[in-house]
Amino acid sequence: MSEEQAREYRRSIDEPEAFWADAAQGIDWSQPWKGVLDDSNPPFYRWFAGAELNTCFNAVDRHVEGGRGDQPALIYDSPVTGKKAVFCYSELLERVARTAGMLAGLGVGKGDRVIIYMPMVPEAVFAMLACARIGAVHSVVFGGFAAKELAKRIDDAKPKVIMTASCGIEPARVIEYKPLIDEAVELATHKHEVCVVLQREQSPGLLVEGRDYDWSALYERSGEVDCVAVAATDPLYILYTSGTTGVPKGVVRDNGGHAVAMRWSMENVYGAHPGDVFWAASDIGWVVGHSYIVYAPLLTGCTTVLYEGKPVGTPDAGAFWRMVEEYRINVLFTAPTAFRAIKKEDPDGKLIDRYDLSSLRALFLAGERGDPPTIEWAERHLRLPVVDHWWQTETGWAIAANCMGIEMLPVKHGSPTRAVPGYQLVCLDEGGAEVAPGESGTLAIRLPLPPGCFPTLWHNDTGYVHSYLEQFPGYYNTGDAGRIDEEGYVWVMSRTDDIINTAGHRLSTGGMEEILAAHPDVAECAVIGVADEMKGQVPVGLVVLNAGSERSESDVSGELVAMVRAKLGPVAAFKHAVVVNRLPKTRSGKVLRRTMRKIADGESYQVPATIDDPAALEEIARSLGRVGLPRR
Ligand code: COA
Ligand code: AMP
Repeated sequence: MSEEQAREYRRSIDEPEAFWADAAQGIDWSQPWKGVLDDSNPPFYRWFAGAELNTCFNAVDRHVEGGRGDQPALIYDSPVTGKKAVFCYSELLERVARTAGMLAGLGVGKGDRVIIYMPMVPEAVFAMLACARIGAVHSVVFGGFAAKELAKRIDDAKPKVIMTASCGIEPARVIEYKPLIDEAVELATHKHEVCVVLQREQSPGLLVEGRDYDWSALYERSGEVDCVAVAATDPLYILYTSGTTGVPKGVVRDNGGHAVAMRWSMENVYGAHPGDVFWAASDIGWVVGHSYIVYAPLLTGCTTVLYEGKPVGTPDAGAFWRMVEEYRINVLFTAPTAFRAIKKEDPDGKLIDRYDLSSLRALFLAGERGDPPTIEWAERHLRLPVVDHWWQTETGWAIAANCMGIEMLPVKHGSPTRAVPGYQLVCLDEGGAEVAPGESGTLAIRLPLPPGCFPTLWHNDTGYVHSYLEQFPGYYNTGDAGRIDEEGYVWVMSRTDDIINTAGHRLSTGGMEEILAAHPDVAECAVIGVADEMKGQVPVGLVVLNAGSERSESDVSGELVAMVRAKLGPVAAFKHAVVVNRLPKTRSGKVLRRTMRKIADGESYQVPATIDDPAALEEIARSLGRVGLPRR
């Protein structure tokens, strides 16, 4: 192992309290902690208990006080509307403090929840920071989710206020958010009091009298409010993510550990320093957006970039390079799927050569496995370090990465390199024993998780233990399968559960199955993730119709596609439902999803010894147009 990286890693594991106490010097606290790690109530651990701080103060105010007032804090670039704006730190402070005033005026205070369902506009960032400023807990919901999904989040988070915009803008269409909000509010059993609506000129929404407020008018009437101190262990936000069922999991992030981890990771993982321009080309609805569009760059005094556009089509596959040149971006972070999209349109990288990319130091990829062809293509055309790193909504920052700020290790394509300091990563067999180096198993992290990782699920300690900690006592089960080689390099290969990754978005096939099963003609169904050149995986539904159903396959299939779009959202990219006579199962009745996935992907497959009816597999192969695949 190389020295510097190994030394840092060892220190984080052998002396975690000293390690994180040092890292915590990067944050301003209004009250010091009583102990760095409170491990008195395992498996629940708390970092920096007793300390107080304000995350917004650390992300905004202190930079103004420290002389960065005139430095750009937030760059907004929106090719879909043709708008651009730059907010320096002192402007950001004013916007955030007044947005906080607006919330305070609506009665929102410490601990209250605020749902933010917004497109990629600066007001969404102001809203997040405004919540942090007054100790409210934000829950940002990605705009590509449908009303029903939003309603589930409203019912779990029980917000006092929903902040939204009248519409979102996709390259091909304007998405009216207001009817979605109205429907979600109607569907939810929790009756919240207030919606604040940012009216966008592309499609203003109809305000419901007595419930909806016009954002701009309210903002104009509001005064600035100051930061309130919160406990390090108080929640900063809830971010819902897909679990194995249709019920999303409310991942909680605390204030103190999160601020420390974000600040530490910027310098050590990304090699980014105060004053650098950092662009995470993601969406604020995802964890990458929370951590690396909003919190980490601002906590570090960097300039962050909010891009309302796509990697291709707005207007072309040179969009990212135009951004890098125009804003002198130093570090770019996106999902491999975005690069696959760029590569498809510009295979020879001709558009890359048209721009001055001399400011760019590195490209970071995450959200799904960094497939070697995509990484090699990016390396060849950018001639820069391309760093694949692995993380999850639950952890909030990288579990494994080539830590640029510590020491760049040799790259092995297909591996996100080694465990990041703080993460005691192991590979376990089904019984929970560590496997030998190079052998496959479940990737798990020995408790305690480092600062920044989720301390629990929102109001659901039992679910936290059950979903993540029960299978391997003393460890957090990442839900990812893979291996760790002799040199400590991690290979993340697939999920061990029913989660699939579509264009870097995490989706539950179980959740989709619940929707398909509700169709009156469907007797049973299975949804599998099938390999897709661009999106990594796309969901495909296999449905058995009720006996006697005379509906045509194309009618039912069309209805199912529409149902998933309406109930889960367009982001699911659910475009295929195939009618079959039966689903292949084991004798105990378990649907053979893994085998069907292999068939769909054109891979060789093994007919399980426990199969109930081998002919059912042949039929699936025929239905999916995959006849004559090799069988083992
Ligand atoms: N609000 C409403 N709808 C949205 C949306 C939003 N915020 N984001 C996406 N959608 C819709 C799209 O319009 C599309 O609808 P369609 O079926 O009518 O075409 C659908 O959801 C799927 O969108 P998307 O996943 O963006 O696919 P795409 O085919 O439009 O674009 C890529 C493909 C690769 C360009 C795009 O997926 C991408 O940029 N991915 C990067 C993802 C990412 O950053 N992930 C975060 C992890 S780091
Ligand atoms: P999300 O919580 O939406 O960020 O999705 C997390 C999941 O995405 C992980 O559990 C992995 O399955 C997958 N993932 C993210 N980054 C990587 C990566 N670099 N390599 C492999 N899988 C990844």
